[in-house]
Amino acid sequence: MANVNRQYDNCLLDPDKITANLKTKRIGRKILVYDSTSSTNDIAAEYARNKQNDGMVIFTEEQTAGRGRAGNKWLSGRAESVLCSIVLIENKFHAELLSLTCAVAVAETIGRTGRSRAKIKWPNDIMLNGKKVAGILLESKTLPILKSKIYVAGIGINCHQKKESFTDELQQIATSIDAESHSISDRVLLAKRLLSSVDHWLEVAANNSEKVIDRWRELSIQLSHRVTLIFNGAKFTGHCIGIDPEKGLILQLDTGGIRMFEAAHTSVAKSSS
Ligand code: BTN
Repeated sequence: MANVNRQYDNCLLDPDKITANLKTKRIGRKILVYDSTSSTNDIAAEYARNKQNDGMVIFTEEQTAGRGRAGNKWLSGRAESVLCSIVLIENKFHAELLSLTCAVAVAETIGRTGRSRAKIKWPNDIMLNGKKVAGILLESKTLPILKSKIYVAGIGINCHQKKESFTDELQQIATSIDAESHSISDRVLLAKRLLSSVDHWLEVAANNSEKVIDRWRELSIQLSHRVTLIFNGAKFTGHCIGIDPEKGLILQLDTGGIRMFEAAHTSVAKSSS
């Protein structure tokens, strides 16, 4: 059920404020802000049927059926987060590279808001001080009529949540920008920076994908650390030695050998530093 908290109603997302002086080439030329919707990824997927909507962004103040990776729900109180989905119609990028690019863009956006630097936990959890502050759900479809692949990059950034906003279980692993910075973040500014950052990093990826990988490496909390992954129900533990823009995370397995793990079929059981 939708959360009826109206505490932040005097600073709702405003499309005109988000687009004012927005200097992006591709992302955010069309923006819609919903008051409430099921999932912005579903709305974006409908708009993605039209090639003209490449770069369009759907924001909402709340979702009644927000979803995360691996079939998880994505919960957020009304106006507490930046919740959005970006339509990307493309043939250039493999899903893994797109996923890494979005993770770098979101981490950099959040990193600019305060003293703490945001980090990436593969595939695309964004962490502040060791807790998850944002997530990205990349969904794709092939529409033969468009002769292109359609991607929807759904992004949820926790902004105003207090510790008590999370369940006891989540308090150990989730946080918000405000909780970490002890201030109140400006969601409009964050939304603007997010669109600029996604626009910038997509352009970098198109021209030189190695630059995205290099930045991902710098922001990764797992690179050079031990990681346990679950792939097709089986556990794999090893030392993270790299990332491949098409094939995913590369582990030097404890059992011997090197193996790559695609984000779509893998979850992280444990990362240690
Ligand atoms: C994850 O870390 O599990 C991904 C979370 C993605 C959440 C965002 S919120 C906006 C968009 N709409 C959704 O239903 N999900 C994504």
